[in-house]
Amino acid sequence: MKRSILLHPDPRLKKVAKPVADLSDDLRLLAGDMLRTMYEAPGIGLAAPQVGVLDRLIVLDCVKEEGDKPRPLVMFNPQIVAGSDELNTYEEGCLSLPDLYADVTRPKVVDVEWVDRDGNPQSETFDGLWATCVQHEIDHLDGKLFIDYLKPLKRQMMTRKMVKLKRELARA
Ligand code: NI
Repeated sequence: MKRSILLHPDPRLKKVAKPVADLSDDLRLLAGDMLRTMYEAPGIGLAAPQVGVLDRLIVLDCVKEEGDKPRPLVMFNPQIVAGSDELNTYEEGCLSLPDLYADVTRPKVVDVEWVDRDGNPQSETFDGLWATCVQHEIDHLDGKLFIDYLKPLKRQMMTRKMVKLKRELARA
């Protein structure tokens, strides 16, 4: 089932999500729904708070080249355990702020630990776009959006655009 994605500004996008204590079938189902929702959007990452669920769950797949094998990742309780001093700047976007993009600078390489769909602990080092994406998604679990890294004026401008878009969508 495809889920609807909350649009900024929404109080649920500002909340800290709670750790997943055990992996229920409902949560596995939710992870599958989130992957489907992400691919259809299309996007490369989605966090549970974006579909209104305040659990620490993210999904991502940063394989972008057409024809390359997809690599869907489901992460429960993901944590950045180390980040490189070297930084990387990417133009980021977010499914909760459609059509808005801005440069964000983050550690270029991060070590991440998480629990997979089968309840097994996993860890991996991510680089480049994968590293940016996983950091962006984990931020969502802490109520943080990529626009929170921008200067206030730019952030306010983007928020105003979203308020206007939401008003138009509500009217349609
Ligand atoms: Ni996002």
